[in-house]
Amino acid sequence: MNDQPIDKSRSCCGSSDKLDGEKLDSDNWQRRYVAGETGWDRGEPSPALLHWLENEELQPCRILVPGCGRGHEVVELASRDFEVTAIDFAEAPVQELARSLAENNLVAAVLQENILNFASSETFDAVYEQTCLCAIDPGHRTAYEERLANHVKVGGKLFALFMQSGKEKAGPPFPCYIDEMKSLFNESRWLWPENQPEKQFAVDHPAGLQEIAVVLQRLLSDGEGTAKNF
Ligand SMILES: C[S@@+](CC[C@H](N)C(=O)[O-])C[C@H]1O[C@@H](n2cnc3c(N)ncnc32)[C@H](O)[C@@H]1O
Repeated sequence: MNDQPIDKSRSCCGSSDKLDGEKLDSDNWQRRYVAGETGWDRGEPSPALLHWLENEELQPCRILVPGCGRGHEVVELASRDFEVTAIDFAEAPVQELARSLAENNLVAAVLQENILNFASSETFDAVYEQTCLCAIDPGHRTAYEERLANHVKVGGKLFALFMQSGKEKAGPPFPCYIDEMKSLFNESRWLWPENQPEKQFAVDHPAGLQEIAVVLQRLLSDGEGTAKNF
């Protein structure tokens, strides 16, 4: 976490200029894992997650982790008695995560699936969104927000890390600037925190980029807020 100005010129997802125009499908992401082009991977849980766990903003619950990658956060959550469903459409990280969980005698549902197609009969208390949105073609952002809104129960929370740097056109990472996020996750469905630094702060990213960590709450219905003490 820090207060440094945001550098919008750096990248984390490999030397991706050559990927311009390529489809960001599961094969594309699988290739990055196989090639070791995983500059986003901290090798440990994000400090933002640890902060929210330590201050009990995030407590054991049923939680969805989209685009989980190798899932260091999934292992951490599972070790703290969360009921975790982790999703990634690339084969390599899903296998690695399943192995890490098994090695640590931990349990989580790890699904190899496109998050934009994921359906669940039950809602989640929370979603932990860490650089999945910035990995998705911006043309699919509205669909992604709709999915998350359907998956989070009313009053539930979205713990998001919005990437502030990246490649405007040729991403990923596609930057998720806060003004754009405020219109994507807008007040018809989401409550943003105001004047609560523990709910919105900057986090350094392993590739020298920066994320804004923010906790949103799913509203009751269009425009109608729930918890007044949020
Ligand atoms: C930048 S990486 C972040 C991984 C992990 N969240 C982390 O911070 O280490 C983005 C991940 O999202 C996955 N991904 C991208 N689009 C996806 C989609 N439509 N459905 C499921 N996973 C997706 C990729 O395979 C990749 O593992």
